[in-house]
Amino acid sequence: MKIINTIEEMQQVSQNERYVQKSIGFVPTMGFLHEGHGTLIREAKKQNEIVVVSIFVNPLQFGPNEDFDAYPRDIARDEAIAKELGVDYLFYPTTEEMYKKNRTTLITVERRVDVLCGKSRPGHFDGVATVVMKLFHIVMPHNAYFGMKDAQQVAVLEGLIADYHLLVNLVRVNTVREEDGLAKSSRNVYLSDQERAVAPFLFQALQKGKNKMLQGEAIPVIKEWIAEFVEENTKAELDYIEILSYPNLEKLDSLEEVDGIIIAIAAKFSKARLIDNLVFSYQKGEQ
Ligand code: PAJ
Repeated sequence: MKIINTIEEMQQVSQNERYVQKSIGFVPTMGFLHEGHGTLIREAKKQNEIVVVSIFVNPLQFGPNEDFDAYPRDIARDEAIAKELGVDYLFYPTTEEMYKKNRTTLITVERRVDVLCGKSRPGHFDGVATVVMKLFHIVMPHNAYFGMKDAQQVAVLEGLIADYHLLVNLVRVNTVREEDGLAKSSRNVYLSDQERAVAPFLFQALQKGKNKMLQGEAIPVIKEWIAEFVEENTKAELDYIEILSYPNLEKLDSLEEVDGIIIAIAAKFSKARLIDNLVFSYQKGEQ
């Protein structure tokens, strides 16, 4: 595995790989790799000859009072994990390398961001779209792998790819969970033992909500039921619970007409804000 720190070298390497007809799979991350990232990397390995992983904690997608400084980092461990998984290139730039002082533009996301995390984290998805656009131009992948754990991120990036005619195929990868159902996340390390024990109730709430949905229960009733269930079983503060169309993230009027449905939840524990969701189609009832 080769570690690359500069944009110029990464572009050169990708250009060379493309020149010899190799397909490039790309997994962008903010590091502190876990099984969720591992699954994305394994998918990329299966479908491409070359796999590039980036590790960059992107300051642009963190709000002023968010956890940018406290975001967990361990590059030595990440290197070992990436190597073990058979990654070909690890792109690990500094903030200065990614954001030159004379930057003049920023991508603004106009739709799919007035709800869920976009609503509670203003500007977050502008930061995500901007860095992913840059990374796509640096790594030049054929296929890029994103987890449905961050379903709104996938919806936003599918919009970005369509709007700018990017020649990148986005591959959606299902959420990877602990045995008890808790979605794997770099932020889970910030849960106290007690919080960790009750965190799986978030996923249980989503599953029960989905069943109620498929049984024809009204959306406001389901949302209220989930809020109460989470309140009763965890001490977390509910940030949002939403049921929307997917990937447009609009209010659901008629269930039959939409492609997909998302039930999404965000809850604040003492030191970590956790998110989770289920995306399914009303007809098939599956994720
Ligand atoms: P990060 O939170 O490190 O996540 C990197 C990728 O791993 C994302 O596509 C995310 O959805 C996926 N992922 C995380 N946990 C997962 C899980 N339990 N199951 C499946 N996939 C999971 O998302 C980001 O970084 C950043 O916003 C980034 C796209 C790198 C832009 O800065």
